[in-house]
This record gives sequence, C-alpha cells and structure tokens, in this order.
Amino acid sequence: MHIIPTTVLTATFFAGSAFAGLLPTPIDRRATCDTTKLNTTAGTYNITEGDTIFSVATATGRGVCDIARYNRLAVASLIYPGEQLAIPPQVCDPDNDTCLLVNTMPTRDCILGGPHVYTTVGNETIEYIALYKLNITVDALFNGSSRMLPDGANASTILEVGQALKVPQCYPSVCEVEPYTMQLEVYKDMAAKFGTTVGQIMGFNPSYNHSAGGGPTLTIPMNCRLLGDNYTIIS
Ligand SMILES: *[C@@H]1O[C@H](CO)[C@@H](O)[C@H](O)[C@H]1NC(C)=O
Ligand SMILES: *[C@@H]1O[C@H](CO)[C@@H](O)[C@H](O)[C@H]1NC(C)=O
Ligand SMILES: *[C@@H]1O[C@H](CO)[C@@H](O)[C@H](O)[C@H]1NC(C)=O
Ligand SMILES: *[C@@H]1O[C@H](CO)[C@@H](O)[C@H](O)[C@H]1NC(C)=O
Ligand SMILES: *[C@@H]1O[C@H](CO)[C@@H](O)[C@H](O)[C@H]1NC(C)=O
Ligand SMILES: *[C@@H]1O[C@H](CO)[C@@H](O)[C@H](O)[C@H]1NC(C)=O
Ligand SMILES: *[C@@H]1O[C@H](CO)[C@@H](O)[C@H](O)[C@H]1NC(C)=O
Ligand SMILES: *[C@@H]1O[C@H](CO)[C@@H](O)[C@H](O)[C@H]1NC(C)=O
Ligand SMILES: *[C@@H]1O[C@H](CO)[C@@H](O)[C@H](O)[C@H]1NC(C)=O
Repeated sequence: MHIIPTTVLTATFFAGSAFAGLLPTPIDRRATCDTTKLNTTAGTYNITEGDTIFSVATATGRGVCDIARYNRLAVASLIYPGEQLAIPPQVCDPDNDTCLLVNTMPTRDCILGGPHVYTTVGNETIEYIALYKLNITVDALFNGSSRMLPDGANASTILEVGQALKVPQCYPSVCEVEPYTMQLEVYKDMAAKFGTTVGQIMGFNPSYNHSAGGGPTLTIPMNCRLLGDNYTIIS
C-alpha cells in the first residue's frame, strides 16, 4: 500500500471539470485494498459481558454493519452476552455506519398504523425510543406512557427491560401487516424499504434478536399511512 498525497485526493473532486484531462483518474478506495490480505474466512464470535458491536468489529477487523446484516440483527447496537455471532468474510470497504439508528427528527405526535404497545429492550429511554425508533416527538411518547412509568421517571431515565409503553397512534391511519422473510439486513433497512419504523417492527416482533442461520419470518407493518388530511391522536 502506498501513501496518497492529500493534494491528489483534493484533485479528484475536480475530475469532472475542464482540468480532468490533466489530473490522475479518480481514486477508487478499493484500488488501495490488497484483496490477498483480506481474511475471507467466516467465523464465529461468542459475545461476553462488556462486548459491544463496535468492540466485536474492532476485534475481528470487520465492519459494524457487515456483522449486523450478516446476523440479521434487529438493531445493530443490541447484542447480548451468550449470543454467538457469525463473522462474515472481510471486505475492502467495511460499512460501520449505515445500519446505525439515527435521530429521525420527528415532527408528528403519533405513529401511523400500529402497534399500540412497545416493550423496552436494554438501555433505553423514552427519548431514545421516540426519536430513534418510533419517529414521534418525545413529549408524545412520554405523555402516552407516563402513567405506566415508575415514579419520578422522566424522558431520560433508563427504563427496566420489559417495560410496556403505550404508543400514541394517529387516527385514522393504517399499515398492511404481513409476514416477511428477513434478508441479510437489519430492521432499519426494512423500515426504509417498507415505509414503517424500527420501533413498530420491534412492537410486532417482541422476541426476535438475531438469526445467522436463515431468514426468520417476521410480522412487518408495511406502507403505513394516514387515511385522511386531518387526524387525531389516540393514546
Ligand atoms: C479470520 O477470521 C476468522 C473469523 O473472525 C477468525 O476466526 C480467524 O482467526 C481469522 N484468521 C486470521 C489469520 O486472522
Ligand atoms: C461459543 O459458544 C458455543 C455455544 O454457543 C460453544 O459451543 C463454544 O465452545 C463457545 N466457544 C468459545 C471459544 O467459547
Ligand atoms: C470500519 O471498521 C473496521 C473494523 O473495525 C475498521 O478496520 C475500519 O477502519 C473502519 N472504517 C471506517 C471508515 O471507519
Ligand atoms: C419521520 O416522520 C416524518 C413525518 O413526521 C417523515 O417525513 C420522515 O420521513 C420520517 N423519517 C423516518 C426515518 O421514518
Ligand atoms: C447505554 O447507552 C449509552 C448511550 O447510548 C452508552 O453510552 C452506554 O454504554 C450504554 N450502556 C450499556 C450497558 O449498554
Ligand atoms: C403532553 O402533556 C402536556 C401536559 O399535559 C401537554 O401540555 C402537551 O401538549 C402534551 N404533548 C403532547 C405531544 O401530547
Ligand atoms: C431524570 O431522571 C433521572 C433519573 O432517572 C435523573 O438523574 C435526572 O436528573 C432527571 N432529569 C430531569 C431533567 O429531571
Ligand atoms: C433475546 O435476548 C434476550 C437477552 O438475552 C433474551 O431475554 C430474549 O429471550 C432473547 N430473545 C430470543 C428470541 O432469543
Ligand atoms: C381539516 O382541518 C382543516 C383545518 O382545521 C379544516 O379546514 C378542514 O375542513 C378539515 N378537513 C376535514 C376533511 O375534516
């Protein structure tokens, strides 16, 4: 592998301009990757206390999201001690971020379609579930669930695993709920593909964690939408 001078990297941005003929051809990141040095052997990794998907990726030299999708993890950051993960062959351009949940910047106070209940998994707050998983405002989820929460809990309190939350629904709205065989993907991919949210998929499949061996058949809310211009919130 050779060092690429910064000036050359900058120059590639102008590859399409009038200077293009004077400049080296754009650099393909893979061109600097020596494929003979890749570890193309698949393996396994036993998760122990303290492991995170990030530490597993570092330890094995694989991309976070390459591991997540290879194991059909529901949520990339959600792994459990005792689980055995499959480790995919190494690739030239590891993907460490496209599978990670991001703040969806919600504007709505209710989900489209169902389900009406979300059950917490590890290390979750109302704020995280609302912004990252259900795409509804923090206030809306907090209000809907406040009577079910322990005394003194606020939107940033880390909730016990298994805490049921009431999810406010927009009325009238609907999803088509259908069986679907999961591919090498995570819930975030499915949410984007089917017009729903990670939290709603979790709500319909409360016991699913991961599957390296084969695609499980899950219950997926699809094409979730409002059924009119105006709606009210049912909580
Ligand atoms: C290649 O990757 C597999 C799976 O992670 C691992 O078990 C094996 O030790 C690695 N081999 C080398 C030479 O690093
Ligand atoms: C990993 O876990 C499996 C059972 O899930 C066990 O059979 C195997 O021995 C474990 N491997 C290591 C290296 O601990
Ligand atoms: C992605 O993760 C792998 C393995 O942890 C690492 O080798 C690689 O440098 C990371 N890539 C980026 C762009 O962060
Ligand atoms: C979140 O909801 C808004 C509507 O409030 C929508 O425009 C946006 O596409 C949704 N984002 C995701 C990632 O679901
Ligand atoms: C819980 O989540 C926070 C922020 O996402 C993270 O810093 C922390 O390490 C997590 N704790 C556990 C036990 O997973
Ligand atoms: C939540 O409840 C507070 C206090 O009852 C109210 O002011 C606010 O409008 C509610 N917000 C939503 C989004 O339901
Ligand atoms: C929210 O609750 C946590 C305890 O769960 C507490 O540490 C924190 O100070 C509270 N935040 C606010 C703004 O009240
Ligand atoms: C998912 O993992 C958690 C924690 O180990 C466990 O309680 C739950 O039963 C698992 N679900 C399945 C379907 O394996
Ligand atoms: C929707 O709400 C707007 C503004 O409140 C109102 O003018 C309109 O008549 C409503 N449409 C229906 C179908 O109720």
